[in-house]
Amino acid sequence: MKSPIRPRLPRLLVAAAVGLAVGLAGTPAAQAQQKLKVGLMLPYTGTFAALGVAIENGFRLAVAENGGRLGGREVEYFKVDDESDPAKATDNANRLIKRDQVDVLVGTVHSGVAMGLAKAAKDNNVLLVVPNAGAGAVTGPMCGPNIYRSSFSNWQPGYAMGEVMAKRGHKNVVTITWKYAAGDESVGGFREAFEKGGGKIVKELNLPFPNVEFQALLTEIASLKPDAVYTFFAGGGAVKFVKDYDAAGLRKTIPLYGAGFLTDGTLEAQGASAEGLLTTLHYADGLDNPKEKAFRGAYQKAYPSALPPDVYAVQGYDAGQMLAIGLAATKGDASKHAEFQAALLKATIDSPRGKFTLSKSGNPVQDMYLREVKGKENRVVGIASKALSDPSRGCKM
Ligand code: PHB
Repeated sequence: MKSPIRPRLPRLLVAAAVGLAVGLAGTPAAQAQQKLKVGLMLPYTGTFAALGVAIENGFRLAVAENGGRLGGREVEYFKVDDESDPAKATDNANRLIKRDQVDVLVGTVHSGVAMGLAKAAKDNNVLLVVPNAGAGAVTGPMCGPNIYRSSFSNWQPGYAMGEVMAKRGHKNVVTITWKYAAGDESVGGFREAFEKGGGKIVKELNLPFPNVEFQALLTEIASLKPDAVYTFFAGGGAVKFVKDYDAAGLRKTIPLYGAGFLTDGTLEAQGASAEGLLTTLHYADGLDNPKEKAFRGAYQKAYPSALPPDVYAVQGYDAGQMLAIGLAATKGDASKHAEFQAALLKATIDSPRGKFTLSKSGNPVQDMYLREVKGKENRVVGIASKALSDPSRGCKM
């Protein structure tokens, strides 16, 4: 059942001994009896803590709806808090891969951590589904038959918003974000479409992740007087940025736009300072499709004291759905990457975001919605980009 490439001699010897004894080991029947070990590597502390919880909730819901099984095997969970700390990514990934000997990895939120995780998954030939982090490298140069994403690439919402803001007639824009892969790539996608539409970025402002000392940068925005601002922030940082932008009195004069993480899972805390904000994302509240309705009901029933489901919960749920599809095709064998890939690449995933497919690089091809904050919800205004596919630059498959 385990990939022969992975150094798991003691377990293999034990399995062989048991096999000799009962004459069953290695057969599909024996495999179905063994639990499928799923390693969740997510942030449970820090600015992205709420995101990690929502992803885990969504994932567990999908597995529960599948009878607690993936590919016919009962699921057993192993968890690591990655703290959104890239410096600890390799060690944390190896806790799951080497110590816990998981069959499947699900993680993570932060792009820098995801790159370390994806490298560990590649080096050890373990199946990985990324339920958030948009790092282009994961489904670019690091793509492979064991690497998938249930979320988005950082480029996607940025590109969609570049088109929207150019069409809305904005010419001179300031961008502001954290200085790391996700911020850089979100602004990169935005720049590509915005410049194509005739706009210009007059200044890119940055601060280190996960700093939230925005005051000096807000003063700079006020003095630059751009037509508008494009931003990527998420989690706790997004809550504070939206409140600070409003408190600085900028909203009335310089409209604020963002990748949808700016207002997803954050509206309870942002309150009135988020009202009316326009963002682009592959999910919105109350989309008109049957899966969304069923998902919201089931989520709230399963987690009555949690926040309402958000994009992160959906991405966790869809990571579970993707694994259910792929592992059904391999009859629960997580080392059969070619068969897993063949099943996923021809699948249409019935997601609360709307149905989506996967590109050859394993990234969702999906609609990017333009959303507007109304009360505590991100309501759909329209589709900013239909079936948008990440260019997956550098993926050779
Ligand atoms: C990322 O680091 O890729 C990232 C983090 C949080 C988000 C979106 C992207 O909400």
